[in-house]
Amino acid sequence: MQIALRPGSPSAWESDALVLAVEPEGRLGTIGQEIDQQLDGMLASTLREARFRGETGKTLVIPTLGRLPARRIVAVGVGDPATRSAHDLRRAWGAAGRVARDAGAASIVSEAPAAAQIDVTTAFRSATEGLILAGYRFQQYRTREPQPDLDTVTFAADGDAAQRGITLGEQTAKAVALARDLGNQPPDALYPARLAEIAEDTAQQLGLECRVYDRAALAELGAGAILAVGQGSIHEPRLIHLTYRPAGPSHGTIGLIGKAITFDTGGINLKPTGSVETMKIDMAGGPAVLATLSALPALGLPITVHGVIASAENMPSGGAFRPSDVLRTLSGKTVEIVSTDAEGRLVLADALTYTARERPDAMIDLATLTGAAVVALGNQGTAVFGSDITLVDDILAAAGTSGELMWQMPLWDAYHERLTGDVADLKNSGGRDGGSIFAALFLREFTEGIPWAHLDIAGPAWSDRVTDLTGKGATGHAVMTLIRLLESRSDRP
Ligand code: BES
Ligand code: MN
Ligand code: ZN
Repeated sequence: MQIALRPGSPSAWESDALVLAVEPEGRLGTIGQEIDQQLDGMLASTLREARFRGETGKTLVIPTLGRLPARRIVAVGVGDPATRSAHDLRRAWGAAGRVARDAGAASIVSEAPAAAQIDVTTAFRSATEGLILAGYRFQQYRTREPQPDLDTVTFAADGDAAQRGITLGEQTAKAVALARDLGNQPPDALYPARLAEIAEDTAQQLGLECRVYDRAALAELGAGAILAVGQGSIHEPRLIHLTYRPAGPSHGTIGLIGKAITFDTGGINLKPTGSVETMKIDMAGGPAVLATLSALPALGLPITVHGVIASAENMPSGGAFRPSDVLRTLSGKTVEIVSTDAEGRLVLADALTYTARERPDAMIDLATLTGAAVVALGNQGTAVFGSDITLVDDILAAAGTSGELMWQMPLWDAYHERLTGDVADLKNSGGRDGGSIFAALFLREFTEGIPWAHLDIAGPAWSDRVTDLTGKGATGHAVMTLIRLLESRSDRP
């Protein structure tokens, strides 16, 4: 999809579809009014008849039957200009692009996105993200002709601020699409060693550092938890360490840590039918980290970022780890296994210890960690835990602009006693009630006092239906928020 700017009025431009923003009660902007006049008032009357009120993201496709150079008008609701958010623009242009494409359009021209409280760059960035993300499809394994995507989008606008917004939107959305592409891969094609190869290739292309630890290297290191989780699979585990270093001075160091269980059967505590079907998404934390790092060279942020991905396949077999086993983590702490299905916190324990050795200013881990997070916040919300209030606030603020739903959860010390092992230092499950909190408290044991936040993305990593900005499948959730967080951290040396 080529997204470009062109000064002037789109009423005179040829295209497959002309996107017009409609405000509450069907109010039209300047371009809409101009077109309404060209059509002798028929645009306004058609919107009225369709009871089109301009609610954000609602669309109406109106064929122009040769009366305009554009073959059809796509009217899209954008809500009240005074309160309109960046996310409203993202949703509106996402919806408009998707209906235009589904109506057969290849080229669209569009009114400029705008809102009272939003600068031009942010407005164009949001609309661009919406167009690309809502248009995303995963077609790699289909043998029929791929369905055509939108080819060109031309905004009626001009200037550096708008162009900068388009570029930022493209860079961000491209990263989200990479996370989706990886999350949608079937688990027979994407196992730990393959994920490591993809990380290495990506790093090489983009100029990131990349170091991969295979099973022997993990044994040498002493990463007993990752090794235990991976020992039941023919696909051996990997720890992947990516580093982005800015060309100029660095305003600090952040560690991003991702859980990448390429398939979670539950292991010996095998998941039943009904729970196991979507478990290829249990690697979503890894792609979120890789995708975020992949955007940094182009964004050129003045901040150092370590991306550490702990990858294993959790399988039952004669060689699998079992309940009551005691393993020794990279930190030296011992863990008694209550459930082999609480494997995410184990691989993350080693990855957190590993990352803490880089002494970053802050660490953030991303993991499809608990079903309890989905019960608490539903399947679109991320549960955010953190030992550092400023870091949590920064993450929630970044989520506010990315439109991703995130909500803070408690790390209550009073609950910690339930993680004390009977024979080892810790046990890997505190029970079902409050399950996300126990998982987070377990992870905190491995953070070495470094400011840390944990994002439980078990719900939003996967969508079981088409939504405003996602298809059915992997969503790439958290990538947009992480990129904005790193941007805001870079502004504050
Ligand atoms: N990968 C799952 C969590 C999950 C659930 C991800 C739903 C995506 C959607 C995780 O490894 C797991 O199995 N957690 C257990 C923990 C329990 C055994 C303490 C859970 O949530 O039931
Ligand atoms: Mn599990
Ligand atoms: Zn899991």
